[in-house]
Amino acid sequence: MKLVNFGSMNIDNTYRVEEFLRPGETKSALRLDVYCGGKGLNQSIAAAKAGCTVWHAALLGQGAKMLKDKLDENGVDTHLLKPAEGKSGHTVIQVDAHGQNCILLYGGVNKQLTKDFVDEALQACSAEDVVLVQNETNMVAYIIEKASSMGMRVAFNASPITEELLGYPFDKVTWLFINEVEGACLTGSEDADEILAILGKRYPQCRILLTLGKHGAVYQADGKMTRIGIFPVPVVDTTSAGDTFTGYFLQAMMDGLSPYDCLLRATVASTLCVQRPGAADSIPLRDEVEKAMEQKTFGQMVLA
Ligand code: RIB
Repeated sequence: MKLVNFGSMNIDNTYRVEEFLRPGETKSALRLDVYCGGKGLNQSIAAAKAGCTVWHAALLGQGAKMLKDKLDENGVDTHLLKPAEGKSGHTVIQVDAHGQNCILLYGGVNKQLTKDFVDEALQACSAEDVVLVQNETNMVAYIIEKASSMGMRVAFNASPITEELLGYPFDKVTWLFINEVEGACLTGSEDADEILAILGKRYPQCRILLTLGKHGAVYQADGKMTRIGIFPVPVVDTTSAGDTFTGYFLQAMMDGLSPYDCLLRATVASTLCVQRPGAADSIPLRDEVEKAMEQKTFGQMVLA
């Protein structure tokens, strides 16, 4: 069984600032770092580091060799990457003194997927595989429909919010990864329990992982809810913490762990991630995650 990720890839231009820029303001950044990122690439690397066999399917734009190299370095299979005309996906990220970020995204070739590309990649898959997709590429609805029609389980990270999001075939999604803001967009409610109740009723087949920032996360499957808290640690950079959570959680699910163990593993992995700068490079190795779990490095979990 493998994870086939139709995953966005970006070059992240990350600027350290004291505070985020306000409209009309010009300020000098404290430093600039260029990282490999993109929700798709980060999630592939997180799942691979967690121990999953991962195939990454994407278009490789201009100047994107570093993105392929990063996937290769981290044990992700890249034979489904195809060179394409056009700029690579890239971002301008501000990270403030509290480690919070805001991201300006340019989709580039992430938005140039075609039906032929998707069909060709899926031809190499079998029904036992899991397909993963984020909302940073085009063809999301087609990928979900096609993979599901082939009997594959589909994991969808509904981030970022776009106009198309509400029209996607959520009834074909097995695992839905959302945060509170995406949950509110899908349901009209800002209350976590209500979000889960509405989505659970609307899409009974869908297992939902709702992340709640400092309130931890909730997993809802087959009418049962499992909650997890957070480990409060000093935050350096939150970029890719959500992707780390998704990749680790999915790998643990595919490995047959209990919902609570999946949540715990993913929480420990993302706690390690926020203590490091950058995107893909800040994702911890499985050994580091297991050691932190064994040694209870982060102390008592807070469940708020
Ligand atoms: O989730 C973090 C990622 O979002 C960054 O790496 C950036 O590229 C954006 O896609």
